Amino acid sequence: MIIAIDGPAASGKGTLAKRVAIHYGLRHLDTGALYRAVARDTLAKGGDLTDARAAAMAASRLDAATFDDPVLRSAGLGEAASVVARHPDVRAVLLEYQRDFARVEPGAVIDGRDIGTVICPDADAKLYVTATPEERAHRRFLELKEGNAGIEERAVLADIRARDDRDRTRDIAPLRPAEDAALLDTTNLAIDAAFRAAIDLIEAAMGRAGRAG
Ligand code: CDP
Repeated sequence: MIIAIDGPAASGKGTLAKRVAIHYGLRHLDTGALYRAVARDTLAKGGDLTDARAAAMAASRLDAATFDDPVLRSAGLGEAASVVARHPDVRAVLLEYQRDFARVEPGAVIDGRDIGTVICPDADAKLYVTATPEERAHRRFLELKEGNAGIEERAVLADIRARDDRDRTRDIAPLRPAEDAALLDTTNLAIDAAFRAAIDLIEAAMGRAGRAG
């Protein structure tokens, strides 16, 4: 069973994906972490993020044991990830990794930008999670404030808008809902309500009825 969860920055897809994976006993892959790790490793080697060869080299040498490195969640690496994510060679290397992950039984919940459209077009259920840019900026601001007291919400909103724009307008695998994705707007939903709505949409997509407990 494969569940694809896509959406823009800070839409809540990561938190949802984790809970959905636990609910169904599936593995979870945060594909944003892969792009963030490529950016981290390119920079660590003194490479330029716009250099497709340097970034593709970093992608081909990724170490899965570092995907939970807390540094990956920094705002700077979110931006940097969206720069390396534009290189077709980077996406080609990561595509293999993601499909291999998805193939392992009993299946997975995979979150990202192009899971329903490119990585797993035959997923059993697809969700596209959104929220207004202001709400997303507020959530990300609260998250980032923990480690950086000087951060400003206005600056976070500007970053989110710039990243949305870069992700939506790139030539390869742009951020967009798959035609058969169910839309979930979490602007006015707390995490529990968003989770219940997600389960209802997934059950409906699989032709089943039922609510999360
Ligand atoms: O957590 P947040 O939504 O801020 O970002 P993320 O999911 O960690 O993704 C970071 C960046 O990686 C995105 O802005 C995209 O440019 C890129 N990305 C992508 O191109 N394709 C994916 N499947 C996942 C992430």
